[in-house]
Amino acid sequence: MTNPQDTVDLERAAAMSRADRDHLVHGFVPLSKHQKDGLPVFVRAEGIYFWDSLGKRYIDGLSTLWNVHVGHGRKEITRAVADQMDRLAYAPTLIGPTSEPTVRLASRLAEMAPEGLTRVVFTSGGSETNESMIRLVRAYWKAMGQPQRTRFVTLNQGYHGSSSGAAMLTGIPLFNEQMAPGLPDVHHMARPHCYRCELGKTWPSCQLACADELERLVEREGADAVAAFVAEPVQGVGGVIVPPEGWLARIREICDRHGILMVCDEVITGFGRTGSLFACAGEGVTPDVLVTAKGITSGYLPMGAMLFREEIFQTLLARADDAFYHGYTYTGHPVVCAAALANLDIIERERLVERAAEVGAYMQERLAALAELPMVGQVRGRGLIAAVELVRDKETRESFAVERQVPRQVYDECLANGLLLRVCGTHALAVCPPLVVTKEQIDDIVGILRNAITTVAKAVLS
Ligand SMILES: Cc1ncc(COP(=O)(O)O)c(C=O)c1O
Repeated sequence: MTNPQDTVDLERAAAMSRADRDHLVHGFVPLSKHQKDGLPVFVRAEGIYFWDSLGKRYIDGLSTLWNVHVGHGRKEITRAVADQMDRLAYAPTLIGPTSEPTVRLASRLAEMAPEGLTRVVFTSGGSETNESMIRLVRAYWKAMGQPQRTRFVTLNQGYHGSSSGAAMLTGIPLFNEQMAPGLPDVHHMARPHCYRCELGKTWPSCQLACADELERLVEREGADAVAAFVAEPVQGVGGVIVPPEGWLARIREICDRHGILMVCDEVITGFGRTGSLFACAGEGVTPDVLVTAKGITSGYLPMGAMLFREEIFQTLLARADDAFYHGYTYTGHPVVCAAALANLDIIERERLVERAAEVGAYMQERLAALAELPMVGQVRGRGLIAAVELVRDKETRESFAVERQVPRQVYDECLANGLLLRVCGTHALAVCPPLVVTKEQIDDIVGILRNAITTVAKAVLS
């Protein structure tokens, strides 16, 4: 569907597409495919819709990159940004001064976060926040007089970012191969993926054996060598893996028993995505460090934030060399903080967290019905994040050969029909619309996805 407000200039659209292919390198996009086919050039967005330079409309079925919680075109955020730029366009927080929106946002986050997470470090995104987290964890253990605690434990297929330190935590080999050998001191362990249990067990008779892997790892490495356990409470990029009940709480217990810091990476799940403000809070678990980004500004401007326990701060205050020697020029940028504050106002006023729970339940129900289709192995998710995993054989759960790129074919079919999703976890498609999505729009998303799966299934299963 085209948007009558846009006049389509075909010559300009072709020139833009050509220039994109000639100059812009898009991360994670096959280079040859980009050179051959090009990519849509978006020119406008509103609500859950994008329009490209040819006037075609797309449903944003992934909140763009899992981040546009409040939907596109929110003038309230634009105005907050413009007002702040007029008043004070930039002030750093490194070296000394501070600014009002930055202080207001830090206080507000401390209020919103699970109790005890009182201290805030700002960054410009999720990867940077994980860099800050690694620095904080190391600084903390040095201040505690335990510098030998250098090891991190994370999950297989976890995604923690693309910068060098964050990539080291990431457990997706494909994403790390180009920079191998990675940095030492990271151990990846089995994730809580009941459909494809990496330990060959079945829930609930397994009694959360995958969480107990952490205990075994700690026994092997020595508790006094492990600095922190880091995981997404619901794995996003790795395939939208929702742990079984009690997994996160068991991890918390093990961390406590061995004095290991627990870090929740809520870059995707934070600010309401799963139907609670933070996914860890929904499980009644408070980590020592909470890593956030994405939904904090709904992508209107780049931002991340790390929240951590008062005790960690007090340790640094009392015992370190009296400064956290880390930060960036744009840490706590006042204009970005103004955008975040306006975004959080919308999330609160429109009760988007409660909405994610309610509309999310509807979305999960509608998507679950896709399990009747021939190549749908499993539908899983929580709130407004879900994945539909495709299999060659539903009985044996055998996947398609990766080279056949079956999920990619479904993705392409959806795109051709005006729905933007994402392939995740190699064999699945992620669905993660803005938190403002309506039930009618969910029906549209599920309808297009259903048709796409049916079309591709006819071709690949025959
Ligand atoms: C859980 C998680 N952590 C960290 C990141 C990295 O965030 P960014 O791309 O903003 O650097 C992502 C990005 O998708 C993520 O999903």
